Order: sequence, then structure tokens, then C-alpha cells
Amino acid sequence: MAAEVRVGGGGIRVPGDKSITHRALMLAALSSGRCRLGGPLAAGDTRATASALRALGVTVGPLAAGRALRVTGGGLRPFRATGDVLDCGNSGTTARLLLGLLAGHAFETSLSGDRSLRRRPMARITEPLRRMGALIAATDGERLPARIRGGALQPLVWDSPVASAQVKTALFFAGLTGGVRVTVTEPFHSRDHAERLLRLLGVHVDVDGTTTRVDPPEAIAPFDGDIPGDYSSAAYLLAAGLLRQSGEVVVEGVGINPTRTGFARVVERMGARIEVQGRWMSLGEPAATLVARPARLRATEVHADEVPSLVDEVPLLACLAARAEGTSVFHGVGELRVKESDRLALVARNLAAAGVEAHAEDDTLRVTGTDRPLRGRVETAGDHRLAMAFAVLGTAPGGELELDDAGCVAVSYPAFFQDLVRALTDA
Ligand code: S3P
Repeated sequence: MAAEVRVGGGGIRVPGDKSITHRALMLAALSSGRCRLGGPLAAGDTRATASALRALGVTVGPLAAGRALRVTGGGLRPFRATGDVLDCGNSGTTARLLLGLLAGHAFETSLSGDRSLRRRPMARITEPLRRMGALIAATDGERLPARIRGGALQPLVWDSPVASAQVKTALFFAGLTGGVRVTVTEPFHSRDHAERLLRLLGVHVDVDGTTTRVDPPEAIAPFDGDIPGDYSSAAYLLAAGLLRQSGEVVVEGVGINPTRTGFARVVERMGARIEVQGRWMSLGEPAATLVARPARLRATEVHADEVPSLVDEVPLLACLAARAEGTSVFHGVGELRVKESDRLALVARNLAAAGVEAHAEDDTLRVTGTDRPLRGRVETAGDHRLAMAFAVLGTAPGGELELDDAGCVAVSYPAFFQDLVRALTDA
């Protein structure tokens, strides 16, 4: 199950995949013994998951960069009641996936989060969980803070109006703790990390188009494996490589699950190429070394069906579109309004403030590229992905973009600025 052949040496290593770290940690908690996870993401979001699991009685070792994480699972319903309010911090994945896990536990638990998380919609998950039999009291508008009392659950067949891996995964996790079959249909394919990991652990997962069914197992055996680097984190460094005047950026050990790599497909249409070298597999996920070289970019259109495979990269792609020739159009990107900030509005506003023609209307974003130097102050609203995307844009020739909050990168990529400097100076 551990990593196979690896290539490289000399490239940059990004932190472990955030989505896989959350899922591996939670499934390790549901296993029947001691698990070891190599290369986990040690950052704000995954620390929120680790702390919540500890508060619920699971033995989770220290989560530190460069160190394997040890988790001792307690079986399919491992939690004990806590009087603590579980603080999910800035992490939507923590909140939604925990609600799923708690749905099979017959006691009440309270969850909350930071200001950004408390404004994010939870109805997409509370509604199907109630349908399964969980009792949930959320704040007005189905937001956090919320209380959940789980217990005996019904099987679920759910047609999700949004293509969301968080929703899909949370419902599968409810099925695991509740011991019932869960079938989810989504409008487009979202990331399938949970399905891959569940299969690897011997759980029966059946996929037919965009419908996925998970049957509850008797038990999950303890496991051990290495988490690949986060493609979404690597994308910032690769984009910096595309904007460079010369040289190349090499990022090693990056997960290249096709449900995550829409960024590469879009930049290819823009006239650039992300080279893939030496594939290997780990924890059921393909990984590789990725190389980006300078490119002259041209505008493109991004369509609704490809959005889930690049949902976290839209701000970055919009920043690349700001340096491309012509007008790029991003269709069907309304979900960006309910991420860690209203990313659609803020991307358009920050680009416009820096001198780029950019408009967000309903669920469409339009950006017209320019080669003028970009200057100004960037309003991040504490959103890590906006900070990193605009930091990359600021590396374009003559650029002087000042972030109002650079510290927010710590939720997903604490060493981002050091790695960005390396990406701009190596090779
Ligand atoms: C995630 C899924 C995506 C993504 C988020 C992480 C996950 O959210 O934006 O950063 O780990 O499942 P949605 O499922 O809400 O689209």
C-alpha cells in the first residue's frame, strides 16, 4: 500500500493533500486499530479535524510537518460524547465530514467555526442527514453553530443539487457509522478521494456515471500509507513557473487524480503545458513530478462540467487569465460565492483594483488579460486561496501587489511564501 517508484530529487515538495489528509484521518479513526499516515498536511484545516477527533475520544498523535501521523481507530462508531463545542476553524471539509460521521452516533454534539465558516451553507448536508434520521438544529439559514444528535439511520438515495465532494463524502461517512447503504448522484463528477480510499480498505463502492453507492462494511482494517502532495498547492508554484521569463519549476510527489487536475487541462488550452514525469501510486492515488515552463498565454473558456475538477484553482486561473491575450470566461462558477469568501466577487474586485478588466455576474466570471504591470492592495478577506493566487500574479514583470493578510495561507500551506521564492529562483 505504500509508495512505489519515485523519481526526481531537487524539485519542490508541497505539503500533503488536504482532502486526502482529512479523509485518511477520519477513516483511520473508524478502523479497528493502529494506522500510520505518511506525509499528512500539517496546517490549520487538518489540525481542526485532528483536534475534533481527539475531543471525541480518538487517539491521534501529533500532526507535524515532515512527520508520519499515528491514529488508533476505535471501530465503525468510535466516538464518545463530549461537552466541548467542536471548533472546525476555517474548514468546511472538517465541519461537513464530521456531521456525517456524527450522524451514526447516538448522542448530541455541537459544532462551530470561524466567521468565514459560520457564513457557509450547511443545508446541502443537514437536509440529507435529516432524511437518514439524524436530528440537527442549525443556526438561521442552516449555518453553524449547529447541534447534531445521531442514532439509528435509514439507507439513503440522494440526488445532490451541487457537485460537492464534501457532501458526497459526508453522506458515505454517515453510512459507515450508521451501518446503512448510501447512494449519491451528483450533477458532475467531484473529487473521488473517499471512494478510492474506501475501495483500498475493502469497502464495496459501485460507480455508475455520476451515481456512487457505498455499502457499509463489517469493519475497516487498520492501514498504513503515504499521502501524496496537494495538487491545489502545487498549482500556485506551477503557475508561477508559467509566468516566469525563463527556467522551470519542478514540483515532486504531487497527487494527479484526474478529478483534481482540471487546472492543467485549462492551462493547456491557454497555450502552456504542465509536464508529468514518473508516475507512482500511493493510497490508491496516482502521483508524479510536475514541471512548468514559461508560456505565452491566450484566453480560454471554462465550462460548468469541468469546474469541480478545478474548483479551488479558479482564483489562480483568473489571475493567469489576467496575463493572457484576450478575454477568458468562466461559466458555472457560482459555488465560488460560498467558499471561504465570496471568491467570485473578490477576484473580480481585486483584479479591477490592480488595473485588469474583470467582471463577476451571477455564476460567470470574465477576465481580459493585459501585459501592463499590476499594482495595488489585495483584499483577501482572510481567504488562503485568494492570498496565494494574487501572490503569484504579483510575480509577473513589474507587479507590485500587496496582500492585506498574508498569514491566512497557514490554513492549507504554511510554507507557501518560502516555496514561492524557491519556485522563482531555482533552475
Ligand atoms: C473539498 C471539496 C471541495 C473543495 C474543498 C475541499 C473536499 O469543496 O473546494 O477545498 O475535501 O471534499 P466542495 O465539495 O464543497 O465543492
